[in-house]
Amino acid sequence: MEVVHSWREWFERPEYSLLYSHRNEQEALQIVKLIYASGLLPDNSLVLDAGCGYGRLSYWLVKKGLRVVGVDISQRMILEAGRRVPEATFLRHDLRFPYWDSLFDSATSIFSSFGYWEDDLHNFSMLTSISRALRVGGLFVLDYLNPYFVKSNLTQQEIISKNGKTFHIKRWIANNMVYKEIVWEERNTTWRFREQLKLFDYPTLTGMLESAGLIPVQVYGGYSGKPFNAKSSERTIIFSIKA
Ligand SMILES: C[S@@+](CC[C@H](N)C(=O)[O-])C[C@H]1O[C@@H](n2cnc3c(N)ncnc32)[C@H](O)[C@@H]1O
Repeated sequence: MEVVHSWREWFERPEYSLLYSHRNEQEALQIVKLIYASGLLPDNSLVLDAGCGYGRLSYWLVKKGLRVVGVDISQRMILEAGRRVPEATFLRHDLRFPYWDSLFDSATSIFSSFGYWEDDLHNFSMLTSISRALRVGGLFVLDYLNPYFVKSNLTQQEIISKNGKTFHIKRWIANNMVYKEIVWEERNTTWRFREQLKLFDYPTLTGMLESAGLIPVQVYGGYSGKPFNAKSSERTIIFSIKA
């Protein structure tokens, strides 16, 4: 029987960084510009990069002179982030569990770094522990998918070749989640990984944020800073303040 590896195992694979090599520092610069343009980032912030991946946002934040702690559940991501951004501090930790109290001036969760659990208790607990890590008046930037855009723009099958590896990708929607399967062949072995994200819409996200003590104050529909449109925006980018 062929094994389907989970999203947690997928983030431990170097092939993640290969397949998503276009999700690089250059692309992350757009959200950095949006964060600064909001005027909400406290000066000299101590920033929590929640679900930091390989540190492409942390890279810019330390360049701007901010102190950054990047946290990720994946050991491989944390090691890669440490190599790419030696000036920041990186910690392997599952953000469903609280770790800090009222320490950070700001926190970020970019490129859909929560929402992987089918049970919303787990997704919500990530928001509550991020909220708890923030001081009162601190800023939280949440960059998440927009379910209406995902549903109307879903590429069901795709083949992507990078560095001699050919990835076969399938996407589908079920149980209010978008699933993505990534498959490739290597030395007579078929590797199959599945990641998934909850299709949280804007009212659900704002409800969860408010319940976690984070008050939404600005919303954007994309990294360029265009206004949010529930039906057509590519992203849901919500700026909230810790109450
Ligand atoms: C799609 S990646 C994005 C990474 C990074 N924010 C970026 O923009 O490149 C999502 C990341 O969220 C992390 N993540 C998901 N759930 C997490 C949790 N409960 N605690 C810590 N990290 C988590 C994953 O390990 C993964 O590195």
